[in-house]
Amino acid sequence: MVVDLRSDTVTRPTAAMRQAMANAEVGDDVYGEDPTVNELQREIAERLGTEDALWTPTGTMANQLALRALTQPGEEVLIGKDAHCWRFESGALAALAGAQTTELPGDGRFTAAAVRAAFKPYDAFVAPSRVLAVENTHNMAGGLVWPQAQLQDVLAAAKQLGLACHLDGARLWNAAAALGVDERELVRGFDTISVCLSKGLGAPAGSVLAGPRDLIKRCVRFRKMYGGGLRQAGILAAGGLFALRNHRSRLGDDHANAQTLAARLASSPRVSINMNNVQTNIVMIDLVDADASSVVKVAKTRGVVLGSVHARRIRVVTHLDVSSEQVQWAADQLLAVLAEAPVVRPE
Ligand SMILES: Cc1ncc(COP(=O)(O)O)c(C=O)c1O
Repeated sequence: MVVDLRSDTVTRPTAAMRQAMANAEVGDDVYGEDPTVNELQREIAERLGTEDALWTPTGTMANQLALRALTQPGEEVLIGKDAHCWRFESGALAALAGAQTTELPGDGRFTAAAVRAAFKPYDAFVAPSRVLAVENTHNMAGGLVWPQAQLQDVLAAAKQLGLACHLDGARLWNAAAALGVDERELVRGFDTISVCLSKGLGAPAGSVLAGPRDLIKRCVRFRKMYGGGLRQAGILAAGGLFALRNHRSRLGDDHANAQTLAARLASSPRVSINMNNVQTNIVMIDLVDADASSVVKVAKTRGVVLGSVHARRIRVVTHLDVSSEQVQWAADQLLAVLAEAPVVRPE
């Protein structure tokens, strides 16, 4: 058996999803004529309560279109620690938008006071702050969900300062499931929102950028410029629609599996896991006295595929293609690997 817990992006389309994709009605989306893409865009805009929405091949593109449209070169984006659209999008924010960033203190989430302290008004000498970027759930913080009150405070401060607000909601669905609220509640106050269909929801590709009509219209041009104008994209959009309609309601299973895995692993003296931070489908495992890359290597020989994010930290992500039985089995394997891992004391 092989259980791949590196990411929720490793899922493969189910037979029913493949059927929906094969049967999709399609047209040329560069002409705006793909009925399935249009249906998905309408459905996301409706669900999030925005005027319009735009399908993109990736979450990276959805984020970068928004940030390009909301800034001018030389302006600044205020952003949380280790945010995906700053750290893991190949420098696109600098290369494509020409924006600077200031990282706000916190665990990826931050306070209204931090936004006020970092804000730079227009001035001939600085990169003026233009956009505030939020990630919910926060990937590198271990799938943490923003408390609603804190988020609303931050957004109110940003609005007062005249900042536009972008939400990287690649895992917005997980945040909504964890809080038991509608996604609309979580996106209130944002100008632009990106959501992914290819992570917890299990589609093979596709994200959607939602926002006001005039801004989305400008993003259609940037999408073409960035090489994201796909023709019969309805085949992919059909996978996204299927995922949205059929897999959103099961995300609680992934969260329960993450809890089970974290609780089992926490029984090992070799690891430290903050159970308060196991809120969705991501678990960060901190190794007390072992090396993450060697644990990852040995785990792979036992059929458990993991990723290390630091010398002593492993990230585990539960998803559609991992059952609760497989999670129990993976926990057994990992506990055995940890028990035998050579002791490497922190320097
Ligand atoms: C929080 C977050 N935003 C954006 C992305 C980018 O998505 P994609 O891989 O589709 O470009 C990811 C991917 O892992 C992510 O975790």
